[in-house]
Amino acid sequence: MLVVIKKDYEEVSREAARIVSAAVRSNPAIVLGLATGSTPLGLYRELIALHRAGSLDFSRATSFNLDEYLGLSPSHPQSFHYFMDRNFFSQINLPSERIHIPDGTISGDYDAYCDRYEQAVKSAGGIDLQILGIGRNGHVGFNEPTSSLASRTRLKALSHETIEDNRHSFASESEVPKCAITMGIGTILDSRRVLLLASGRSKAAAVARAVEGPITSSVSASALQMHADVTFIIDEEAAYSLTQREYYRHVLEMTKIFTPERLS
Ligand code: PGA
Repeated sequence: MLVVIKKDYEEVSREAARIVSAAVRSNPAIVLGLATGSTPLGLYRELIALHRAGSLDFSRATSFNLDEYLGLSPSHPQSFHYFMDRNFFSQINLPSERIHIPDGTISGDYDAYCDRYEQAVKSAGGIDLQILGIGRNGHVGFNEPTSSLASRTRLKALSHETIEDNRHSFASESEVPKCAITMGIGTILDSRRVLLLASGRSKAAAVARAVEGPITSSVSASALQMHADVTFIIDEEAAYSLTQREYYRHVLEMTKIFTPERLS
């Protein structure tokens, strides 16, 4: 696990964009795993700027989003479809037929739908680079605490904390989604490479538990300790509760010297 500590959110976004853009350039047919939330917005802004400047082409790429609220249509302003379209897809050249986001409007056989999403990831060759945020409760995607570490894409009931975090975005209590479709932790662990971004003191406890705590389903992100190629890119505030910050800086210096490809 590499832990890259940056000064602030802007630096986190730029570093993530440097890695993602390099990955897209070296493999134009890349399969990206994408996340919503406030954290990756800066990354998306940077990638859009690179695309506009003519130096980043998504025309051969494929994407799979982590999750979507159950019950929200793609046109709902709080849906993750809407978020992705507005903040990223409408401003780059990723072909719409290769954009995949779980459908929040499905009903009936949820398992069959989720199996098809898993199959679509497999058919695309698996996810090359997965972008993640982290919830205050340590969730990745909507894998709420106690999610199986082997879970696959499925319908998931949202935790009280997540519902509380989302409440401000909805006009009334009854509109706040109570469930979501989310890739599982097993799905995420199958990605070839993972970048987890975090910013702000509100994420410090979750980051510390994910990086330095025991692997536990109580903190879904701690499962990333079992992945061979994970980079946490976090700012000073999000790194606040880590006990080994100096060691992570040392690892980074040595990585730059001996295995710089891990940082490219
Ligand atoms: P945020 O959400 O980026 O809006 O903080 C992260 C998450 O809950 O996964």
